[in-house]
Amino acid sequence: MSKLIVVSNRVARPGGGSGSEGGLSVGVNAAMKERGGVWFGWNGKIENKNTNELNSYESGNINYVTVGLSKSEYNDYYKGYANSVLWPAFHHRPELMDYHESDLQGYLKVNIKFANLLRPLIDDDDVIWIHDYHLIPLGEILRKMGVNNPIGFFLHTPFPPQDLLRAIPGYKKILEALMEYDLVGFHTETDRRCFTGGVMHGLDGRELNMGRLSTGRAQTRSGVYPIGIETDNVSEMSGKGKRSTEYTRLRDSLSDRKLIIGVDRLDYSKGLMHRFKAFEGLLKNYPEFLRKVVYLQISPTSRGDVEAYHELAEQIDRLAGHIIGTYADFDWMPIRYINRGFRRATVFAMYQLARVGFVTPLRDGMNLVAKEYLAAQNPEDPGVLVLSKMAGAAAELDAALIVNPYDSQNVSKVLKQALKMPLDERIDRWQHCMEILKRNNIYAWQENFMTDLLAEAQR
Ligand code: F6P
Repeated sequence: MSKLIVVSNRVARPGGGSGSEGGLSVGVNAAMKERGGVWFGWNGKIENKNTNELNSYESGNINYVTVGLSKSEYNDYYKGYANSVLWPAFHHRPELMDYHESDLQGYLKVNIKFANLLRPLIDDDDVIWIHDYHLIPLGEILRKMGVNNPIGFFLHTPFPPQDLLRAIPGYKKILEALMEYDLVGFHTETDRRCFTGGVMHGLDGRELNMGRLSTGRAQTRSGVYPIGIETDNVSEMSGKGKRSTEYTRLRDSLSDRKLIIGVDRLDYSKGLMHRFKAFEGLLKNYPEFLRKVVYLQISPTSRGDVEAYHELAEQIDRLAGHIIGTYADFDWMPIRYINRGFRRATVFAMYQLARVGFVTPLRDGMNLVAKEYLAAQNPEDPGVLVLSKMAGAAAELDAALIVNPYDSQNVSKVLKQALKMPLDERIDRWQHCMEILKRNNIYAWQENFMTDLLAEAQR
C-alpha cells in the first residue's frame, strides 16, 4: 500500500517538545497523526563526526527516521545557508544575510546526504512531501536518482519578491530546484505570486493555467494551502492546562489586571522590538492602564548561535529593562518577559486568561500562535486577537484587529481598543474567526495539498 513520506529538517518526535516548537513541526505532526507514514529529518543532534546512521522509532502510525549532522554540516547548512541566508531574505531582511561560499555547498551536500539516506526507504507507489526552506533542492536530487513518485514541496515561510530574491546568492538554483516538484505550496496568494514573478523574471518562465509554471525545461504547479490547526484539540488542551501550577500561579498573580500575551520564538521576524515599543506607548499615552494591565511575553531562545539573534536578544533585554524601570511599581511589573518555553497545554490555558493575544510579526509565513490563541478562548468570554497584517494568518482572520506592526503608535491605540472592547463585539469577532479556523483546519490543509499533488503527478 502506498505510504506518505514527509521530509523536514525539524522532526517533532513524541515526547521531545521543548516548548519552542514552531509551526512546521506542530502542523505536520497533527496532519501525520491522521494518515501515518514515515517522517524523515534531522534528529536535532550535532555529532563529533560525519554520520549516516539512521535512528528509527515507531509511535502510533508514524515511523520517525532521523539522522545527525556533523558540526560542519550544521554550520554550513542549518546555521549558514538556511538560517543566515534564506531565512533573513525570505523574511525581507537582506541586510541580515551573512553568506559564505561554503554555506551553499554545505546546504547542497546535506540535501544530497538526505536524498541518499531516503532513497532506499522509497517504494514505487509512495508519495513524498518535502517541507521548508532547508530542503528546497531535495526533490531535484531525488529526481536525478530516478525517483518518479509524486513529490510535493511546501514552504512554511514567506517567499520574497523578485528584487529581494535576486539578492540571494544561488537564487537561480533555488528557483530551478522548485521547478522540479509536481506541486509547490504556499500559505498565501501573495507568496505564490512572488514565486511566479521569480520564475518569470529569474528563469524566463511562463505562467500557464491553474497556477502552473513552465520554463520550457521544467514544469510545476503552484498553489495556496494555508496551514490550520486542530481547533477542538487546542480547546481540550487548554482545559487540561488549567490543572497546571503555572496556570494557577499566573491567574492568582494577576488579581483583576488584564493580561496581554505574546508567544514567539526569539526571532527578529517576530517584531518584538516594535511590539514592546507599542506596549510602552499604551502606558505612556493612556495612563489609565498603568497598574491595570500585564504584558506576558514568552520567547524561548532560538538559533542562539546565529549572530543576528544574539544582537536581537540584547536589544530586547535593554528595552524590557527600560520599560520596567520607567513604569513599574514596587507591587506591579508591566512586562513579564521569559526566555523559555512551556508545555503547549499550559500555554493554551494562559491564552484563555489573556484578554489580548498580541501577535505582531514584521513578516511571518502563517503564524499558528494567532490561530491557537483564538481556538483556546472561552466562547462566552473570548479575548481579542491583535494581529499583524504581515502574518499569513491575516489573509484569513479579517475579524481580528489587524495592525501594521511598523506603526507602533497605531498599535498602542489598537491595544487600547482591544482592552476596552465590549463583550458582544468580542464574541462576534471571535465567532467569525472560528468559522474560518474550523473550515481551514489542519486536515483540510493536508487533504487539499495531497489531492492536488496526486492529480498533478498523474497528468
Ligand atoms: O517555517 C519556519 C519554521 O520551520 C517554523 O515552522 C518554525 O517556526 C521555525 O521555522 C523553526 O525553526 P528551527 O527549526 O530553526 O527551530
